[in-house]
Amino acid sequence: MPDEWHKGSAIYQIYPRSFRDTNGDGIGDLPGIIEKLDYIASLGVNGIWISPFFPSPMKDFGYDVSDYRDIDPMFGNLRDFKTLLARAHDLDLKIIIDLVLSHTSDRHPWFKDPAKKDWYVWADPKPDMFGEQVPPNNWVSVFGGPAWTYDKTHGQYYLHNFLPEQPDLNFHNPDVQDAMLDICKFWLDLGVDGFRLDVVNFYFHDRELRDNPPRDANLGAATQYEGDDPYSAQNHIYDKTRPENLKFLERLRALTDRYPDRALIGEGGDDHFFQLAADYCEGDNRLHTIYTPQLCGGKHKRLTEDLIRTPVEDFLNQAPNARPTWAFSNHDVVRAASRWCPDGDGFGHNPALSKMLIALLGCLYGSFFLYQGEELGLPEAKLKFEDLQDPWGRHLWPEWQGRDGCRTMLPWNKDTKSGWLPLAESHRPLNAADQENAQDSTLNFTRAFLNWRKHQPALISGGIDFLETHSETLLAFERKTADQTLFCLFNLENAEQTLPLFLTPQNAHLAFPKEKGEENTLAPYSFQILKGKEN
Ligand code: BGC
Repeated sequence: MPDEWHKGSAIYQIYPRSFRDTNGDGIGDLPGIIEKLDYIASLGVNGIWISPFFPSPMKDFGYDVSDYRDIDPMFGNLRDFKTLLARAHDLDLKIIIDLVLSHTSDRHPWFKDPAKKDWYVWADPKPDMFGEQVPPNNWVSVFGGPAWTYDKTHGQYYLHNFLPEQPDLNFHNPDVQDAMLDICKFWLDLGVDGFRLDVVNFYFHDRELRDNPPRDANLGAATQYEGDDPYSAQNHIYDKTRPENLKFLERLRALTDRYPDRALIGEGGDDHFFQLAADYCEGDNRLHTIYTPQLCGGKHKRLTEDLIRTPVEDFLNQAPNARPTWAFSNHDVVRAASRWCPDGDGFGHNPALSKMLIALLGCLYGSFFLYQGEELGLPEAKLKFEDLQDPWGRHLWPEWQGRDGCRTMLPWNKDTKSGWLPLAESHRPLNAADQENAQDSTLNFTRAFLNWRKHQPALISGGIDFLETHSETLLAFERKTADQTLFCLFNLENAEQTLPLFLTPQNAHLAFPKEKGEENTLAPYSFQILKGKEN
């Protein structure tokens, strides 16, 4: 029987540059991850996703890979990686690596090799209405500007959905597919437990290079930059989510299935996300689970019942056979501790809210990623322009500081130094060492909750049913397996709420947290998980 560990699992995301720096160069490294494996295991997670650590010119901080079979020297070497893998496995932690197959760095030898020109997407300029030579179509880059850059040597444009330094691979060329599968095989042979597949729906483009039609403005932003954005003005039916990708995913799954207990987790963003989830996880021969971005919104949002409930129900209704992997935070979005905190102008935090969010994430149906620092309740860091590193943020400053506010160095103790990004002053009092010693810290809460969750079958594999609460900020649902029923109640606001009678199940007892507050009330930003009488 395959071990379906990825179903209902809790995975800790490490952004290695900012995790733990052991050699004092201002950049986190693999020895830093090794040093902290016990800490990670103590959280009660099942595994780790590590953002890219491959050799890279770091224009997009590792999401621009120049060699897929090695480790960038700033992070360590393959020996370190093998040590990390072995030690993680000893601690019963799975290791998921982040494969960026859609594009390479412009410094990858393939991009320079004339024999491999067709491995990328090249096209002739097209005359516009004034006879001016312009890009072949209207496609734009996620990070702003056209998706095409002119190359004088070839007299042609090449495609890039992200930075110009991230040329897009041409997956219509079977040699590209074979090369990418070979890279996957290399890491599977080494023993990794799975892949987080970066922008998995961007692998193929429309061969005819048709213009994208305009997009319905009511849909809101298409990226985490929630301003007026050319990318959000187009309906991306030709530059991504092409039908040919399904066959490639089947090839990748067939390869993965030759190894026991490995998992494919695809990251996809699309206006028709739930359809994408259904298609990409259909049958037993594509992805195992899909990284679901609906709860990773960009800027400040109000935390309401509907905000959480709608995407979960949409997923269940529209992709009933797929498995979601949720996250509230990651290296691309504003940390949820601040995004959903009404105070602090987008940079605030409230420990009760941070704890409640960990419990909520752990109670949702499916698996989830916990982003480094979430266990400490870290808020979004406010940065100065001079400190910004993310090219996207530098481009959009001052309207948006980009993605660096969630990428600052983790505060391990009160003396942790700044690195490639500063250590946020707001993070210093939340450092891990101090939280170790404070019984009621977010860190110790996370440990207690996730270690308890591991033993609750209903939270791992049960179904989910939402209950009507008739309150915008009271969320209630039931998780249920044949042997266990759990009622989960969350107070999403910073004010006490009275529990209506219909939400106080008879004969149920409090399972988590252990200590009971006042009868029939939920304290500000608190939650209760109750066990049904049959358990
Ligand atoms: C990654 C980003 C990256 C982009 C391009 C995303 O989904 O999470 O950090 O910039 O893919 O590779």
